[in-house]
Amino acid sequence: MTRGRLIVLEGIDGSGTTTQTERLVEHLRQQGRTAIATREPSAGPIGRLVREVLLGQHRMSRGASIDGRTMALLFAADRVDHLQREVEPLLAAGAVVVSDRYLMSSMAYQAEEADREWVALLARGVRPPDLTILLDIPVEVAAQRRLLAGRAEERYDADSYLGRVADNYRRLALADPSAVILDGSAARDQVTAAIVAAVQARLASPATP
Ligand code: TYD
Repeated sequence: MTRGRLIVLEGIDGSGTTTQTERLVEHLRQQGRTAIATREPSAGPIGRLVREVLLGQHRMSRGASIDGRTMALLFAADRVDHLQREVEPLLAAGAVVVSDRYLMSSMAYQAEEADREWVALLARGVRPPDLTILLDIPVEVAAQRRLLAGRAEERYDADSYLGRVADNYRRLALADPSAVILDGSAARDQVTAAIVAAVQARLASPATP
């Protein structure tokens, strides 16, 4: 059995990672591959807790939000749990796993609310993805999309915060030889085509051991 691949879509909220994850999986299935969509925060117990926190539940008695260090630990714990519970068994069975967010999210988002070096330390030893695709998009365009989608307000939605996250993403992707940066503000079909091309190229080369 050949080992599967882990493909990750990343970008600020409203960049289209969720839609494009579904589209990519659909495309891969049409090609006869075993492809599975997943996401972080995961559907597991820690991921569920993280989603509640993102929606503003579990605040402190005086209304203070949860410390950024707690968020970094929660996302890191969810990732290890997600890998063990869902991703690793699928990869071992030879599937192409497409994750809506993964390691780069923590490095881009939590680096703004906790010490960057420490966040990097939490990522150490975690299985790297075979390919990370960053959907780069202006913060204002992403905000407009979230508005149109009627998405509930979440912890990281402020444009000022997402502007810094977007800068982090670009810096991280430029420094990562296994990452590709695409224009997420292009038409939906155009973005899908660019993602498919990047994934085909990666699938044609050897898997990460
Ligand atoms: P999102 O991916 O938009 O999911 P949903 O559509 O279900 O709201 O929300 C996840 C949020 O969590 C998003 O703001 C990014 C953030 N996040 C981090 O800050 N660090 C991480 O490691 C991950 C995986 C997500």
